[in-house]
Amino acid sequence: MIRPGARAWGAPQSRDMHGIIFNQLRGYALERLGEKGWETLLRQAGLPLRVYLAFQSYPDEEAEALVLAASKLTGMPVRALLEDFGESIAPSMMKIYRASIHPGWTILDVVINVERIHERVRRDSNVAQPRLECRRIDASSVHVTYSSPRKLCGMGIGFARGLARELGQRVEVHEHQCMYKGAPHCEFLVKQVA
Ligand code: HEM
Repeated sequence: MIRPGARAWGAPQSRDMHGIIFNQLRGYALERLGEKGWETLLRQAGLPLRVYLAFQSYPDEEAEALVLAASKLTGMPVRALLEDFGESIAPSMMKIYRASIHPGWTILDVVINVERIHERVRRDSNVAQPRLECRRIDASSVHVTYSSPRKLCGMGIGFARGLARELGQRVEVHEHQCMYKGAPHCEFLVKQVA
């Protein structure tokens, strides 16, 4: 959990994040904070009123400011907010990137192929590859290791839950360790339960 004043993530130098995440944050703000939610969020983040284009990229610092502002406005801690955000945008992310998801895939196939999906995502925008290693443990679970100074583990876990629901399935996520609790990287198990 983030301490007041602490950074949600702290890339040693500025990177760029995919515009689609900013674009989806706008939808999320409207959904959670109401009609004026996006304007309120930008104001709280100290950013000018603007439109982010889905297939551009924008500085990490702006994403971080928006996430911290959303956490403040919703009263949700950053880690929980990221999960909620990931879960709620999963259906539209899946629609946009449907071509990268094989029609017969289960949620575990999606997770195991996540870096292939991200490879495709990267081609649309000039962003660096997320760092996830996914390993099949048994027929019903995949182990995920995630390391990135962005600390967006919550968003990934939310994606897994939301995408499972879109596929008519259900997962339970068991976290073994988390960067928010001082671990050097995050590890979690995605278990398909239905
Ligand atoms: C439809 C499937 C998915 C799509 C379209 C998608 C798309 C994206 C995009 C656009 C980003 C931002 C990339 C950047 O700006 O660097 C991202 C980041 C991320 N995704 Fe996915 N994703 C999908 C599924 C998943 C799943 C299933 C997981 C987890 C198991 C996951 C975990 C993450 C994480 C942790 C990040 C942050 C990476 C970082 O630290 O830079 N994604 N994803």
